[in-house]
Formats: sequence, C-alpha cells, structure tokens
Amino acid sequence: MRFFLSLLAVILCCNSAPAQSPFTRLGNAGTASFDEGWLFKRYGLQPDGSRLEEPSQAASATFNDQDWQRLSLPHDWAITGPFRIDLAGETGKLPWKGIGWYRKHFNIPAADAGKMIFVDFDGAMAYAEIWLNGQYVGTWPYGYTSFRMDLTPYIRLGKENVLAVKLNTEKWDSRWYPGAGIYRHVWLVKTGKVQVAHWGTYITTPKVTTQAAAVKMAVTVANETGKPVTAVLQTDVYEAGTGNTFKKKVATVENKPVDLAAGNNNIDVAVTIRNPRIWRIETPSRYFAVTTVLVNGRKADTYYSTFGIRTLEFTARNGFLLNGKRVAIQGVCNHHDLGALGAAMNTSALKRQLALLKEMGANAIRTSHNPPAPELLALADEMGFLVWDEAFDAWKHGKKKNDYNKLYDEWHEKDLVALVHRDRNHPSVVIWSIGNEVMDQRDVAMTKELAGIMRREDPTRPVSNGYNDPDGGRSSGAVQGLDLMGVNYFFGQQPKWDADPRYANMPTMGSETSSCVSSRGEYFFGTNRRNWQISSYDLDHPGWGCKPDEQFRTNAKFPHLLGEFVWTGFDYLGEPTPYGSDETNLLNFRNDPSKRAELEKALDELQKNKPPSRSSYFGIIDLAGFPKDRFYLYQSHWRPDHPMAHILPHWNWQERIDSIVPVHVYTSGDEAELFLNGKSLGRKKKQAGKDFRLVWDAVQYQPGELKVVAYKNGKYWATDVVKTTGDAAKLSLNSNVTKIIGDELAFITVRVEDQNNRMVPRSHPKIRFRVEGPGELVATDNGDATSFESFQSPEKSAYNGMALVIVKAKKGAKGLVRIKAEADGLTMGLTTVSVD
Ligand code: GAL
Repeated sequence: MRFFLSLLAVILCCNSAPAQSPFTRLGNAGTASFDEGWLFKRYGLQPDGSRLEEPSQAASATFNDQDWQRLSLPHDWAITGPFRIDLAGETGKLPWKGIGWYRKHFNIPAADAGKMIFVDFDGAMAYAEIWLNGQYVGTWPYGYTSFRMDLTPYIRLGKENVLAVKLNTEKWDSRWYPGAGIYRHVWLVKTGKVQVAHWGTYITTPKVTTQAAAVKMAVTVANETGKPVTAVLQTDVYEAGTGNTFKKKVATVENKPVDLAAGNNNIDVAVTIRNPRIWRIETPSRYFAVTTVLVNGRKADTYYSTFGIRTLEFTARNGFLLNGKRVAIQGVCNHHDLGALGAAMNTSALKRQLALLKEMGANAIRTSHNPPAPELLALADEMGFLVWDEAFDAWKHGKKKNDYNKLYDEWHEKDLVALVHRDRNHPSVVIWSIGNEVMDQRDVAMTKELAGIMRREDPTRPVSNGYNDPDGGRSSGAVQGLDLMGVNYFFGQQPKWDADPRYANMPTMGSETSSCVSSRGEYFFGTNRRNWQISSYDLDHPGWGCKPDEQFRTNAKFPHLLGEFVWTGFDYLGEPTPYGSDETNLLNFRNDPSKRAELEKALDELQKNKPPSRSSYFGIIDLAGFPKDRFYLYQSHWRPDHPMAHILPHWNWQERIDSIVPVHVYTSGDEAELFLNGKSLGRKKKQAGKDFRLVWDAVQYQPGELKVVAYKNGKYWATDVVKTTGDAAKLSLNSNVTKIIGDELAFITVRVEDQNNRMVPRSHPKIRFRVEGPGELVATDNGDATSFESFQSPEKSAYNGMALVIVKAKKGAKGLVRIKAEADGLTMGLTTVSVD
C-alpha cells in the first residue's frame, strides 16, 4: 500500500552551526566498509591455462579455507597476469578467465538483534553467487551493476558467520579487459526494521530560479516489521563540503506522522532552498540531504543522499544548455580499468585521471560501455563533469558469444533499474544511454522498451543510444524511440536527417569520435606504423575514425550538434587497434562489404604475425597516465583562453642531420613563428574553423633549440621550446601528491634526464625501484602498449624517457615513505611521500 502525504513543509531552521561528521558513503548511515579480511582462491582456468577443479563445498560454513590467500578488496585477480602472447589482445593478453571464490568470516554482535543486515556490492565480475553460512542468498550476473543482498534471514547473532562469493568469468565474453573478481568496494549495512530502502531517495529540482529552488524528494521507506507503524520523516539539507563532509545546514523539514503499512511506502518531501548554489561545471556546488526516520520518537534509520541544483535542456537547434547557457560537450569515452591497477577500483587513481582530463579542458565523460563505479559519479559531481551514463554494449543479439545477450531476457530491466536508482540523484549525470553499437540498434520495439524503462524511473534526463549504423537506426524508426541521438563516427549524413521531419527536432551528438591512435614519444617519417607502435604526429586512425582536427571541422560544420565524446581519454587494457587480432570492429562496416574485406585481410596478416600489443593506442593519455601530444591538441581547442603552445616532435635526431623532420605546433593562439637555433622558419596562421594545428613540414634537422612563439589577435600569447638533450645522466622522481592517507595512492613520475634536467626522449633504461618506510609498491608502468613486464614488478624499463611507480601506505603505519629509483650508469632518483 502506498501513502502520499501532504507534508508540513516548515523550514525550521537555517543555522550555520557545524553540522554532521562526514558519512561513510551515500545511503543508510549504518554502513561500514566490508573490504578487509577476505580469503580468496582461484579455481577453473589458472594463469598458465591449466585447470583446477572447484571443491564441492566451498560455500559451506565449515569448509577449510586456511590455505586461501588473504587479501583486501577491491581485488582484480587477473592483473597479476602474466601477459601471454597466446591470449587475445582485445582483452589485454591477461588470463582473466577463471572461477574465483571469496570467503569472509565475520561476527555480528548479539546487540544487533532486531536489525536488518545487508551486504552491498558495488560490482563483482562476473556471475556473482552469494551464500551465507552455506545458505544460498542470491545472484547478480552482470559484473558492472551494483547490487544489495539481504543477509538478515541467514545471520547468526553473536557467532561467526561465513559469507562465500563465487564469481565466474569463464561464462563472460568481452571486447575489452573486464577485470575479474570483487573489483569494487563492498559494504555491510545495518538498519532498523523501518528504514529508507536501498537507493530509496529520488531527488529532483522541478523549479529553479536564482532566488529559490524547489526540491522534491520521493522517499521509499521499507517497513519490515510485518505490521503497520507510525513514523515521522525528518529531512535536513546541507551544503556539501569536499568528499562526504558537510558545510552549513540550509533547510530542515519535518513531515507529519505517517502510517506505514508493512512493506514499501512512498513519502513525498518538498524542500525550498533559498538563494541556491547552482551546480555548474566551473563551480559544482552539491547538497546533501539527510533523511531521518523516527518511530515512536526514536531514530530507526538515517540516510544520506546527494543532489545538485541545475537545469538541463537538450535542443536540436541550439545544442545543450546547462542552467540556460550553451555548453559544448567536450567529452571523452573511458573504459573502467585504471591501467596498471587493472579493474580494481581506487578513488585516488580515478581522481588523478579526472584531474588530468580537467587540465586538458574535458567537461564530460562517457562511461563506455557499462555502469561505472559509484565513485566516478561522486567525483564527477564534485569536480564538475557531465556524465553520459551507459548501460550496455549488447542487447539480445550479442557481439560475442557470451556477452550480455545471454542475460538480456532475464536481466535487462533489473540492470537498468539498478543503474537509474543508484545514479539518478547525481547532478553530473545528464544523459542515460541504453547501449553502444548494439546489433539490435534498428529494433524499434526493443529501443522503445528500454528507453521506456529509463523514462519510467527518471523522466528528467534524455535517453540515448550510441549508433554505428545511424542511417539504419533512423530509417527503421528505432531512433524515434529515443530523446537524443548518439552517432559514433558517421556524420556524413547529418544534413539529410536534419531535413527529415522525423528527426529535425532530435538533439544529436557525437557519442564516439576520432579514434585517433598514437604511442607516446614515437615519431616516424614516411609511415605511421612501425614495431607495433604508432607515430605521435596524430594523423593515424582506423577506417571508421578520423583525425581530431577532422572532427573539430565537422563540429564546426554542424554547430547545432551537442558536442563530442572522443574515443578515448585514457589508454585502456585490451583492444590494441590497429594491432588487435579481434574481429569486433568489423562490425562498423557491416554495410560496406569492400571495407570489410579490406579489414579482414589486414586481420589475417596480423594473426600470422602475433602482435605483442595488449593495450590500446586510442588514449589521449597513455596507460601510465602520461599525456601524449594529442593532449595539447585537445587543450588548444577546448581551452581557447588558456595561453599554451606545444611543439612536436622531440629534438634528438642525430641520425637525421640535414634531413627533413616535420614540426607540428598545437596552440590556443591563432598564429605562430618557429625558430631553429634562433633563425626564423616562418610565421604561420590558422584559418578559423579549418586549421587546428600549425605545420612546418620542411624543417631540416640540426641539433639545438627549436622554439615557437604563438600569437593571438596579433599579440604575444605563449611559447614552447624543445632542445636536443645530452646523454641520460640521472633519474628524477616527482609524486602527484605529497601525502597519502588510508587507501590513497601516490603516482610517481620518473624521468630519465640529462645533466641539465631535460628529459631524454629515446631512452629506455631498466629502472629498479625500492620503497622504504611506511609504504609499499603497488605497481609500475611505462605506457608502452607492447610491454610484457609485469605491472607488479619493482623493475620497469623506461618507455621514451618515462616510467611510473604507484605507492600505497602500509596499513596502520605513519611517517615518511622514501621511493628510490636506480638504473645502471645513472644517478639514483629519490622522492618522499608522507603517510598521515
Ligand atoms: C567503436 C566501439 C568502441 C571501440 C571503438 C574503437 O566502434 O564502440 O567500443 O571499439 O570503436 O575505435
């Protein structure tokens, strides 16, 4: 039975007294981390390809798990590899297929009698099955969905309990590295019998002016007492501080007592916020709502929700309006892995990624092609990113034998509802996406059904789908089932569809663009590809893609489009196009037999040559998090007011003296002059809307100094210099943070330098790392897509002058961590990070 209460919307107070202490995570207050103290054993396929059969009793409470590996979550069992040349490049050449069992022994005190006990998984890859004390609790197969399991009926109070989780990635197929294991956080949640249900608040802001915002909260209260009770709901709204901290309280509302039937009850709450702080990309102000459920005057549950006050408008003619102002979507697609960390979630690693993207001028992320970790949305809310929140890469007809097609019939509605319920209060989420290049993209009924589920659960955001067959989708009418059209790559037909009355009013954007490929620090002359690497002049892309410049031109030609999501912001594990031996990209040419034949031929050649490539070349930023040249191309276009200039290539070409070395310059200026050893090589000007880089393609190489001076509107704007370096002499270390706390990581960039502190571009010395004091080495990387060196190894070859070491704090320790890097013939590098 449902109750809709007219409420007593009294603003009781608006004080500025310090509010609450920070909460652990959004949701019920009785939530604690459940990441520590797990036992793990891998069965099924082993890293070397052999098999270890599962024991029959691994779910039982009495099973002997003493020799299992002890670990903390999040955990990705496959990132330790080893890389294997015989495994598919598209999933990272890592042995991720297998069966993983996790067990956790824990106590619930007798004092918790009468409470509800839940376990919340943010994501488990894949086909999770859960038992408590040998009794089957439930399953959630799609590895990217967050889900809750109710342990209450099986809990033993005051005694030991054993939670067992079985995961099976042998049943899953993927077009990229999916990771394996309980790769996101897990939480134990205790609530009263009357509680705010899981993801039980839905907050919208139906009316926003600068004077006041009307905030509507639909709260689902679960009454598990089995009988009617009377409850009072109190709602406090605070301005959010950083992370999960509170600033001042801005509103308090107490609803009239309400009779709750057994089961779920819906209660509406209305709050007015005066002089609201608007959520903008530049000033992303957030609010937290604290919902308290009182039964007989006693607190039964407290629940934390986030929201932002902003308006969205998606138009066919004037693009996207945020708070009434046009914003061009300057987005990137990203997969979920975190490079050397694999799929194992770490907030500080994600934050580092987002900070780099901000620096580049990106304002949006597409969570390709699956629901993200909840932390991504919290960070996007706080740092000011728009999010295209995506559900699936396949529907009923898959791209791979065992992809989502196996789950579609039974699970699509449950997975979509979970996505919307978890994510709909986040101000960063502005677009829902029901899919990416799905085989069923022409299917009208399926499109309508999926879009209908999304709208039923949240009508405040448009529903989209990423098309690689946009003409097919439009002519079949499937696109009419959407609110927003996502076009991957194929923009050629835009004018035709603008003229079609069915689509003239359909807001449209580039849901995937460019797919430019490059390797950091590699420059080839007369060819783009060599030794499984790709030249960093940023001119190469697969047949369906285009140079970034070409996409900028397209965007300028169709200014009514909403913007673009570049494929991709970061390199990711798997899909090493053009050196991938996978076939799924042939799908892009399902309607073009000659292109398909061309790709099939290339694929045959590749398969013969066994490419060692195991991660992508698409990233604007490499797998280690080091910007490639392209970073500056996007920055020059996306941050036009940020004075910058960037020269490529490096200037160490001893073997090319007097030969031509083309020089490209990316600048936010409109004109630039290039100098070699003080001599002008001419001044060049961009044609607005046409040129996005300046090119001097007849520079005769001489060692020394190459300098560019950029101008804007005739005035000095920015400069950049590259110099021929001396021999490698030393290692220099630079950490992205000076201190770490809890599970935070320090990312330390290592540069091979000459005596004058210049990075030596073509150097690849083997570096040995040592971490001393209260820290531990987590991983090393260098951004080389062909490296088979283990990510956990304390040794790593520099790749084009750079390497990365990732360090964490030892549990419970404090003090100064010393990170040392040594290589033969070079002066040692050292840096410190403090542990708080
Ligand atoms: C797209 C696809 C992406 C990725 C990309 C590579 O067609 O949606 O997932 O495969 O191609 O260019």
